[in-house]
Amino acid sequence: MAERLLAIALPRRWSHVQGVASRAEVVGPHLVGGPVLVAACWLHDVGYAPDLAATRFHPLDGARALREWGADDLICGLVAFHSAAAHEADVLGLLDELRAFEDPQGLVRDLLWYLDMTTSPDGERVSFDDRIAEVRERYPAEHYVIRALDGSMAARRGAVNRAEAWLSSAGLADQV
Ligand SMILES: [Fe+2]
Repeated sequence: MAERLLAIALPRRWSHVQGVASRAEVVGPHLVGGPVLVAACWLHDVGYAPDLAATRFHPLDGARALREWGADDLICGLVAFHSAAAHEADVLGLLDELRAFEDPQGLVRDLLWYLDMTTSPDGERVSFDDRIAEVRERYPAEHYVIRALDGSMAARRGAVNRAEAWLSSAGLADQV
């Protein structure tokens, strides 16, 4: 489904999604929520698809489409709130709409954020700091993504740190 929506319309975004999801597929077999993590990674950016971009806020558009298609509430919530989306929603005045979904806490959520925020637009593994620097370069200073970035750094770093600690404890730090 993600390929059908993104591969032709947004090939670079599709490369990113393939990178995130292929890393999730390495992690998946090692945790209870593995299948959910893998599915959420494939689907996390479907809201960028032109066919779905109703509000042009991709976490919300993606989560709404997934709910309409009958996806599990957990996957809808993971997509809705991925990678500090709540901070961007707040800046955009869309937080109430986003709260039609639930922000699931825990390892699967942290790993989704981590994998998204350490995969480049071309699908390569990068450090969190490099990825944030790349986002800052990609958008103009007044863009909502940049305005939301500073307020969300603690939440982002928290997720990255917890995900990295778990990956290390599972012996996966060098494989993902
Ligand atoms: Fe992403």
